[in-house]
Amino acid sequence: MTTIEPLTPEHFALVAQWLSNPDINQWLTSDWRDRVVDPVVVGVAVRNKRNKLFIVRCDQELCGLVALADWDAIDHTAVVWYVLGLAALGGRGVITDAVRQLIRLAFQELGIEALHAWIVEDNERSRRVLEKTGFRESGRFRRAALHKGRRLDRVYFDLTACDQPWKPSPFETH
Ligand SMILES: CC(C)(COP(=O)(O)OP(=O)(O)OC[C@H]1O[C@@H](n2cnc3c(N)ncnc32)[C@H](O)[C@@H]1OP(=O)(O)O)[C@@H](O)C(=O)NCCC(=O)NCCS
Repeated sequence: MTTIEPLTPEHFALVAQWLSNPDINQWLTSDWRDRVVDPVVVGVAVRNKRNKLFIVRCDQELCGLVALADWDAIDHTAVVWYVLGLAALGGRGVITDAVRQLIRLAFQELGIEALHAWIVEDNERSRRVLEKTGFRESGRFRRAALHKGRRLDRVYFDLTACDQPWKPSPFETH
């Protein structure tokens, strides 16, 4: 079972380790990318009111992070991002499940009306997470990402509260 809970100081070091892992770090925004992330920086991010970070557990084991950034309390929007810290769990839908929970929280409890996310065009795994959680591709900023020395497009996705992605499908109610 996948669960999410607010990120607290005892997990800052572990999250910093995940965010520093080159396999993960290469896909992050420039705020985090191409550096070793210090646990103190994770703490600064948590204290920033425009962020909400959640640790992900799979069967109680700490395994990833899902987060809202750039929370705009006037327009009620935020950006979604996420990482799977334990690569061994990849492909089992853990982060997809966690993002679904984050979406539900954002729309039902935090009053957010529109979420968006962006990926570097080559990040197919991240694209799948967004597609499976109901995000729709909404456009691209050409050559707006620097990835391993190459200029690539940022591909944007969005999801609104009107899309009602948290509603269980008929199959899930049985
Ligand atoms: C993107 C990421 C969060 C996906 O986490 P996850 O828990 O594996 O998510 P899912 O299990 O739903 O997998 C998503 C897709 O990636 C594919 N995938 C994940 N791990 C895989 C692996 N080891 N081998 C092959 N494919 C894999 C899955 O097949 C899946 O696509 P599908 O449902 O069409 O089969 C994880 O790969 C990650 O942390 N990547 C680095 C950080 C990152 O890119 N963050 C997003 C920044 S925008």
